Amino acid sequence: MTLLKIAQIGAPILRERAESVSDEALASAHIQTFIDDLIATMRDASGAGLAATQVYQPLRICVLEVDRNPRYPYKPNIPLTVLVNPVLTPLTEETFDNFEGCLSVPDLRGVVPRIAEIRVQALDRHGASIDTVVKGITAGTYQHEVDHLDGRLFIDSVSDTTTLCTWKEFQRHYEATFRERVKAVVARYGS
Ligand code: NI
Repeated sequence: MTLLKIAQIGAPILRERAESVSDEALASAHIQTFIDDLIATMRDASGAGLAATQVYQPLRICVLEVDRNPRYPYKPNIPLTVLVNPVLTPLTEETFDNFEGCLSVPDLRGVVPRIAEIRVQALDRHGASIDTVVKGITAGTYQHEVDHLDGRLFIDSVSDTTTLCTWKEFQRHYEATFRERVKAVVARYGS
């Protein structure tokens, strides 16, 4: 397993639209090893997710996992998930305010309105179809990762820039309130 370098904001790759992965490419040892490395890198950096563009590969692949995450201690768990060529479809017009951060945007967080319920269609790492519905905080995490594959960073979706803050100031001023908000979202949507 190789830990990959994580691109930082300003790196042009973070603004590229990633390319679809063919069935043949997905089955290759090269891409399978890359997926293993992407997972290892996400875990090493304590990310809730990581997209291929964040490690300089313009491929429509992202991984997600939350298991008592130290960066996001209030996030509901997400089992390890690999999404290849994901397509997200909103299932509601309802949104909630998510306080986000990103491994490619050092020491910055901000509030992003996210759609509360989405349909996820993708392939898993073995090429099998995924077609599922995700809700709440977890839906926010999915939207953040899939945005990366379209060259979007969370800061593009921060509608109120006065919410931007460092991680330290987040803990000082916003975390307690946000944790209450997360509880309400989880109570409403189950995740
Ligand atoms: Ni990110």
